[in-house]
Amino acid sequence: MAVDLLLGLQWGDEGKGKIVDVLTGNYDIIARFQGGPNAGHTLIFDGHKHVLHTIPSGIFHKTALNVVGNGVVIDPVIFKKELENLDKHKVDYTSKLLISRKAHLILPTHRLLDAASETSKGKAKIGSTLKGIGPTYMDKTGRNGMRVGDLELKNWKDKYHALTAKHLGMLDYFNIKIDYNLEELEAEFDKGIEKLRTLQFIDSEEFLNQAIKSNKTILAEGAQGSLLDIDFGTYPFVTSSNTTAAGACTGLGVAPNRIKDVYGIFKAYTTRVGSGPFPTELFDKDGEEMARIGQEFGATTGRPRRCGWLDLVALKYAVDVNGVTQLMMMKGDVLSGFDTLKICTSYNYKGKEISHFPYNIEPENVSVNYSEFKGWDEDLTKMTSAEQLPKNLMDYVAFIEKETGVPVKIVSVGPDRKQTIVR
Ligand code: GDP
Ligand code: IMO
Ligand code: MG
Repeated sequence: MAVDLLLGLQWGDEGKGKIVDVLTGNYDIIARFQGGPNAGHTLIFDGHKHVLHTIPSGIFHKTALNVVGNGVVIDPVIFKKELENLDKHKVDYTSKLLISRKAHLILPTHRLLDAASETSKGKAKIGSTLKGIGPTYMDKTGRNGMRVGDLELKNWKDKYHALTAKHLGMLDYFNIKIDYNLEELEAEFDKGIEKLRTLQFIDSEEFLNQAIKSNKTILAEGAQGSLLDIDFGTYPFVTSSNTTAAGACTGLGVAPNRIKDVYGIFKAYTTRVGSGPFPTELFDKDGEEMARIGQEFGATTGRPRRCGWLDLVALKYAVDVNGVTQLMMMKGDVLSGFDTLKICTSYNYKGKEISHFPYNIEPENVSVNYSEFKGWDEDLTKMTSAEQLPKNLMDYVAFIEKETGVPVKIVSVGPDRKQTIVR
């Protein structure tokens, strides 16, 4: 069988966790392929809210297996907390959560380096979640990293100490005062490693390819969003991994010709957390309303998310880069009550009107052109079928489908698992 892929088309937080949870019933295996605890994936069902950072969003289902792929970076300290939260809810994960030996480990000193690097950038800071993501991927590509499989070696602590010593030297280079107690951090890290060892470590690329051969169904779960991709995002205000479709191939070891459907998730408007350009960002009452109604606060850091209108130039770019076959529109309910809605259909770029996503979208280069749409007043949150959705919302959806050339298969009308309309 083939692998389907689910990924965010904007700057993250599109609602990936919710939809993976909704779709898990159709799959044997859910596999995360990149990112780490910078992600925060929210699932709401049976009156409970869960936020997952590293663990795939299929973990609450009885039968699906959940794989943390080689492309993911794992912080054992945060991972332990996630597992303890599952323990609290009596989720039996021991037999259905599998960890790739090739996934890299986030060391305490990676987090310190992240903080030093951000501070040293001053006003140009990325707005990182400070989870050590950048430094860990730097060690991966620099061929210095520590992997989960190293924990099976007798001398893993030697590797750990050598890498930590190197990091401490780098911290000296930054010459920025950061308060920390390495002993405490290491004690916490060791406890995290102990907990991690209770899980099964696997050669995940072998496992997944065997699963494909025996007709198992696999859903690959992305983290972050396409505009945060290290190659195709708004560099340098991006994360340090490939969040786009190609990242699923390298992050899981599955070949491109094994991928079938690519589900692209987007919010009916746009949000961004952290620094970087955002052409349709709003600084008025409309933006404030989106943030208030949509409860736009980061699931990992609690920071307020910046809000703005839907950007079709960026969305079409993400559809192309990922080869999206089905779209899923989230948070349509948040737009109920707006008289007029806007969608950005082109940019003015260096004196010319363009409809492609250019090299640089900083405000000094780009301004936006909008098409306007009539809003709707109906409360969508209790709706259960496509026939109930207001005409003006369907016109909004039809425009997006026409412009992208891709059908919108799911309209999400609230955060709960059940508030999901399949068309
Ligand atoms: P992810 O990182 O892509 O998994 O998304 P997050 O969990 O960070 O952010 C999405 C937020 O929107 C969460 O608080 C969800 O509970 C919420 N959410 C998801 N879908 C909907 C929806 O259709 N309507 C509303 N109002 N909230 C939603
Ligand atoms: P999910 O999976 C939204 C943003 C950060 C920052 C930039 C780099 O929940 O959609 P990093 O910690 O990777 O060094 O941060 O990327 N960012 C996210 N924004 N959702 C996420 O994940 C994000 N992960 C990272 O805010 O701007
Ligand atoms: Mg999130």
